[in-house]
Amino acid sequence: MSKPVAASPPRISGFNYVRPLGSGGFAQVYQYEQDMPRRVVAVKVLDEDLSTSSSRSAFEAEADAMARLSSHPSIVSIFAASISSDGRPYLAMEYCPQSLRDRAKRRPSPLPEVLDTGVRLAGALETAHQSGVLHRDVKPSNVLLATTGRPVLADFGIVSLRGQMRGEGTSRAMSIPWAAPEVVSGDTTGTVASEIWSLGATLYTFAAGRSPFAKPDRAQNTESKMMERIRRARYTPVPGVQGYEHFDRALARALAPRPEQRFASMREFGEALQQLQRWYGFDVTPLDVVASAWITPAAAPGGVRGPAVSSVQENGRAQKRRELQSARELESSDDEVLPDGSRSSLRAGLLGAGLAVAAVAVVAFAAMLIGGA
Ligand SMILES: Nc1ncnc2c1ncn2[C@@H]1O[C@H](COP(=O)(O)OP(=O)(O)OP(=O)(O)O)[C@@H](O)[C@H]1O
Ligand SMILES: [Mg+2]
Repeated sequence: MSKPVAASPPRISGFNYVRPLGSGGFAQVYQYEQDMPRRVVAVKVLDEDLSTSSSRSAFEAEADAMARLSSHPSIVSIFAASISSDGRPYLAMEYCPQSLRDRAKRRPSPLPEVLDTGVRLAGALETAHQSGVLHRDVKPSNVLLATTGRPVLADFGIVSLRGQMRGEGTSRAMSIPWAAPEVVSGDTTGTVASEIWSLGATLYTFAAGRSPFAKPDRAQNTESKMMERIRRARYTPVPGVQGYEHFDRALARALAPRPEQRFASMREFGEALQQLQRWYGFDVTPLDVVASAWITPAAAPGGVRGPAVSSVQENGRAQKRRELQSARELESSDDEVLPDGSRSSLRAGLLGAGLAVAAVAVVAFAAMLIGGA
């Protein structure tokens, strides 16, 4: 279960607050209804102070990157990013009715479902890696179920967003049970290889109902004991199931102690999971890797944009702008038919057509005279 929501939901122009959805280590998540177009959305409000211009530009840059990636079918869609009237940065995103973590807690997921989820997430992560972005916090609570029932990866880049906003550079997500040994020991904040580990640990959790280095006895799961076991990285096959040997072999490779022993890329990991689907006789999930042309930054990343502040504070000005706009539209309402350039060319066209008709009439009249002569 997610933790209860502490702070109050912010007022956001164009969105009506509905209910709290949960909270994590550094954000609150609420359900809102968007006015136009009317739809239910989840709004993640970050506990961050955006008072400096550098923290604001970090927020804008990271939100841009997240939005670009969210065109992938297995990544939660971002609809808007801004700053609420009380100064908190927020992201409005696709509402997902369930998280796979909650489902895995109730029962281990069947193997066909785990493999299907694995291939989809590998496609999402390969897409991100190809565009130079790391997720940095792949774990069960960040795998949500979209309204279509499909698994989607949430919180893309949210860890680096937080680090950049704080001016700390890339910070480390310490979701220990799913973190690679080199991340736990502080050697790196994240690499492709550490994400392969985290995806392997996440899939293990879905299949086993607990993370790969957790013990059934909760007293054995203190932070330090867990970190120690992760550093040793001794793989234990998924307990209580039969016929999982091939799956265990693939996961043991994703969870290999040294990064270079793991799959070389997310694509390779995804393809290995597809191989397993074939071997077990399950439906093979396509490995969707979105072409980088869609996800690389726009041509002018430094281009001018409106300030990322809530329009709640600016209702007066926005209203005046709208009134001014409609007054201008009324004044020039006869211009609505066609733009200026087209009007003059229409005029010229009509004139031309008139002259042509007159010329034909003169020629016909002359021909008649000649004929009659
Ligand atoms: N798009 C969404 N749609 C519906 N519920 C969501 C959505 N995103 C997050 N939630 C809910 O909000 C809760 C809190 O999410 P949040 O991402 O802040 O924390 P977390 O991922 O659980 O943990 P952490 O902060 O440690 O990463 C989630 O557990 C989930 O129940
Ligand atoms: Mg999350």
